[in-house]
Amino acid sequence: MGSKRAMLGNGLGHVLDDMVGRHKRFVDLFTGSASVAWHVAQRYPIATFAFDLQRYSAALAGAVIQRNSPVNPVRLWSDWLRRATPKFEEFSAPEIKAVNAAFVMKARKWACQFDQTSLVHAYAGHYYSPVQACWIQALRDSIPQKSPNREICLAALVMAASKCAASPGHTAQPFQPTDTAIKYLEISWQRNFCADVQAALSQIAPVHAQIIGKSKVGDANVVASQLQPGDLVFIDPPYSAVQYSRFYHVLEAITIGSTSPVFGVGRYPPLHERPSSRYSQKTTARLAIQELLVALAARGVSAIITFPDHECSNGVDAYMIKNYASEIFEAKTKIVSSVFSTLGGPSLSGQGPRLARLNADEMILCLEPR
Ligand SMILES: C[S@@+](CC[C@H](N)C(=O)[O-])C[C@H]1O[C@@H](n2cnc3c(N)ncnc32)[C@H](O)[C@@H]1O
Repeated sequence: MGSKRAMLGNGLGHVLDDMVGRHKRFVDLFTGSASVAWHVAQRYPIATFAFDLQRYSAALAGAVIQRNSPVNPVRLWSDWLRRATPKFEEFSAPEIKAVNAAFVMKARKWACQFDQTSLVHAYAGHYYSPVQACWIQALRDSIPQKSPNREICLAALVMAASKCAASPGHTAQPFQPTDTAIKYLEISWQRNFCADVQAALSQIAPVHAQIIGKSKVGDANVVASQLQPGDLVFIDPPYSAVQYSRFYHVLEAITIGSTSPVFGVGRYPPLHERPSSRYSQKTTARLAIQELLVALAARGVSAIITFPDHECSNGVDAYMIKNYASEIFEAKTKIVSSVFSTLGGPSLSGQGPRLARLNADEMILCLEPR
């Protein structure tokens, strides 16, 4: 998560400084880890709206952009932990003595006693240790009822679950207890999940928007048709021909609190339940971006688009976007050197499995209505 965080200090931040003040609302159409939505909502007196096909992204965004005052993370955690502890204890999760293949198999067998819709059944012994998976379910079942505490806790749970997942950077497939991967699995399983939740709460709870906004699950192209003049739209669409839901299905299930029965090494829910994006299919991605640009131009909004400057696996590149956009907007470009996730691409040799990233130039395209 967080692919745009580096760019905020590397060109994108200046572009936002220049453009936000001239607009009435900021709309992040592909919010992902919500780094840009959080940045804008905190720094500028403008209502921020964030959308994504994935629920966990909407949850992350909502935790900050939907409130205009800080929350005390210490009180929030102690109340949450008090409610979750008896639920955690009911599971009687086996503690780790040594992480080896035998313990992994024992953990998977132990998890099978729980209902198939339970996060413990789905992920204990795979992405998480039994103790971690039980905390995830217990904390998810004890989330506060009322806003904004509900959104803050949900986002903290997602952030901690992302940090602890025993998988290479995202949840496409968990590490297996093989001779080479067991050490990575052990590093993840030994993490103190509650400490990671507390750390996430301390990061999220004190920060807030200047003006209250809203986050929602939604399709960028549908949302675009409802925008209005005065909106500044941020567009950071997928560049991979692999669906994001293949990588983040575990965070989706945690956001929901349960899952359909999972299958395969990756512990996926059925394909039809995973959000599918036209931007992540080579046959449809170009048309999707063209239609988006046409819809935005018709609504008279301004936009900032970021995209890698070479052809990506979904068949789109920044120059193609610029060519389309220049026909219907006043377009200006700025190229920054950036780092972006290969999303399932090969890891760079010798850098370890969590560093599946490439250095690349990324274009920032600023569009103003004609
Ligand atoms: C490149 S990532 C965005 C990263 C984000 N800017 C950040 O800083 O983390 C693209 C995001 O678009 C979402 N997405 C894909 N198709 C979409 C669509 N049609 N409408 C809205 N969101 C979509 C994906 O779920 C993914 O989170």
